[in-house]
Amino acid sequence: MLSTVTFSLFTLAASLIAAAASDVLSAKPYAITLQSRVTPKGHPSAVRSKAVKAIGVHLDDYFLGTDLQWWGNISVGTPPQTVSVAFDTGSQTLEFASIECTSCMQLNKFDPFESRTYVRGDNVTTLDFATGVGVDPVVNNDYVLTVRNGTDTVTVGGVAAKNIPLFTILKQSPKFDIVPFLGIQGMGSQAEGFFAAVTRVGLPSLFSTYLTPHTAGKAELLIGGIDDTKFKGKLIFADQTGDGDWQIPSIQISVNGRTTTVLRQSRSVICDSGTSNVLFDTQTTEAMYALISPNIKPFAAEPGAYGLPCSEIDGLSATIDITFTSQSGRPFNMTIPSSELNVGPFSSDPSTCQTLINAFDGFDGLALVGGSLLKHYYSVWDVGNQRMGFAPNGF
Ligand SMILES: *[C@@H]1O[C@H](CO)[C@@H](O)[C@H](O)[C@H]1NC(C)=O
Ligand SMILES: *[C@@H]1O[C@H](CO)[C@@H](O)[C@H](O)[C@H]1NC(C)=O
Ligand SMILES: *[C@@H]1O[C@H](CO)[C@@H](O)[C@H](O)[C@H]1NC(C)=O
Ligand SMILES: *[C@@H]1O[C@H](CO)[C@@H](O)[C@H](O)[C@H]1NC(C)=O
Repeated sequence: MLSTVTFSLFTLAASLIAAAASDVLSAKPYAITLQSRVTPKGHPSAVRSKAVKAIGVHLDDYFLGTDLQWWGNISVGTPPQTVSVAFDTGSQTLEFASIECTSCMQLNKFDPFESRTYVRGDNVTTLDFATGVGVDPVVNNDYVLTVRNGTDTVTVGGVAAKNIPLFTILKQSPKFDIVPFLGIQGMGSQAEGFFAAVTRVGLPSLFSTYLTPHTAGKAELLIGGIDDTKFKGKLIFADQTGDGDWQIPSIQISVNGRTTTVLRQSRSVICDSGTSNVLFDTQTTEAMYALISPNIKPFAAEPGAYGLPCSEIDGLSATIDITFTSQSGRPFNMTIPSSELNVGPFSSDPSTCQTLINAFDGFDGLALVGGSLLKHYYSVWDVGNQRMGFAPNGF
């Protein structure tokens, strides 16, 4: 998934997602049990106490000229096999390549036949992804996974959860071949799979992301905790209004300190750690570009993408302030700096550089920000309280 925007996953199977969510909320179709390897010997009851430490997962940056996605290791099966995944708040499910995928070019694929706890499902279906990361078309692209359902034990940072629903990838379109990880761990706002299970060990139902630029490194996902050494000032919280994805309310966008009537509108903005792109409808996209440079034009070969001659891009000023509303009703800005404007040259025309904002008119006024914003803010994804918290990254 050179591009992962997994916002496509909510097109894909609303029914699948709804079913999975209700499974978590209602009784217990899966008997999820957890054990923590950090529990001191002789204190079995500690498993259920509040003493369990938050789970830190070191993240690597998938970087190709620009920061695309952040990924790390989980383990699946008994005995555990390491499975590398991009952590994606824009989707809800866990899927990764298995040895049954002969078209998957990644190394160290998962071998379901080596896991005693793997339960093979009989449903083979497809998952479609609809966007690009970095220099890529936004829509109608060929990001498709053929997957089989199943369940297995998933272990993250020493905490094991049994019977977690997952998909093994049987076939993938070639676009996925260059990614440095095996799959995607969805982290939607309704908490499914491992993320639903962690609360059973007494961890709060939230996770925090410290997504950093390549140059800063030390990116981290913290499950069940907030690391206040990684941000400056205080967290500001906003209500989460998405149904599966993560959305927060915004009242205005400004570019280089200026706004327009098109930009001064209420919208709900999706926060998606699984993409580097920024997506708005065409009218909003063009209103933003109009405040940056008249030379930024649609790139005909790739619908939804924009660009301009690479020789002109570096001098441009393109500070984007998105004004959100906090839970107490106060406006606060999060800023995408000018340095994010240049996404890199188009492969079909290397003298033209792609610019950050993509136009997308599906899903009725979709607005979405990804890594280009999130890597500047420590972010708390609070499932239990259906809110998100942000503070400037402290690197
Ligand atoms: C397999 O799963 C898909 C997605 O949820 C669903 O649409 C389909 O009906 C399922 N097929 C079977 C045979 O259960
Ligand atoms: C994932 O595990 C492999 C070895 O199993 C290791 O080489 C790699 O550095 C790990 N990646 C991260 C992001 O922790
Ligand atoms: C796979 O999906 C089917 C529905 O399509 C379901 O009946 C079955 O329980 C699932 N299997 C596993 C192992 O999750
Ligand atoms: C947000 O940014 C805009 C444009 O720079 C500015 O006019 C506005 O005062 C800022 N709002 C807050 C709450 O900082």
